[in-house]
Amino acid sequence: MFHIKPYEPNNIQKVANLLDQAFGVDRLQKTVYRLREGVEPIGALSFAGCYEGQQVASLQFWPVLIKGDETTYDAILLGPIAVAEDFRGQGYGLKLMAQGLERAKELGYERVILVGDEAYYQKVGFARALARNLKMPGPVDYDRLLAQELVSGAMNNVKGMISNINSSH
Ligand SMILES: CC(C)(COP(=O)(O)OP(=O)(O)OC[C@H]1O[C@@H](n2cnc3c(N)ncnc32)[C@H](O)[C@@H]1OP(=O)(O)O)[C@@H](O)C(=O)NCCC(=O)NCCS
Repeated sequence: MFHIKPYEPNNIQKVANLLDQAFGVDRLQKTVYRLREGVEPIGALSFAGCYEGQQVASLQFWPVLIKGDETTYDAILLGPIAVAEDFRGQGYGLKLMAQGLERAKELGYERVILVGDEAYYQKVGFARALARNLKMPGPVDYDRLLAQELVSGAMNNVKGMISNINSSH
């Protein structure tokens, strides 16, 4: 049976291996990783997906900012999410995200962004249309920049640059 647990300290290396297999070791070069540089993932939103005691999936979220001309908004970045190759296509990715997003809502987060395939992520509530006024701090395929409201209306009038929480500009 697949079940979802909070991260434990001994997950770290297993998760790095899982992510290297899923995304390749050059994953750290992607623009989205700039948003994570020097920032810890949200501990309460770090999940291990397990099958018969073995970790086969991982989901984390990072805090980010959306900096507009006058207003800065808090948001969270979903990802990375990875399911080990042999365990894909069984709904585990969607289960992990549904649980993670539910927990994020309970914790009071209002909006989530991610870079990914809309055809997949719309199954858990993401839409390209909600991210049209957002920019990324580097090269990205804007068709894949998506957002979700955890509180109705949370993306209304939200415009600006998605930024690392430590960036000064
Ligand atoms: C993406 C990933 C996390 C999905 O996990 P998963 O457990 O295999 O996905 P699920 O089984 O929950 O997917 C269920 C549904 O989404 C569909 N789906 C999966 N990827 C899709 C895509 N890119 N576009 C559209 N639909 C997709 C499946 O066909 C399935 O649909 P169905 O229920 O109608 O048959 C996993 O494939 C993975 O780790 N990939 C490599 C890493 C990666 O690309 N991560 C995401 C980067 S943004």
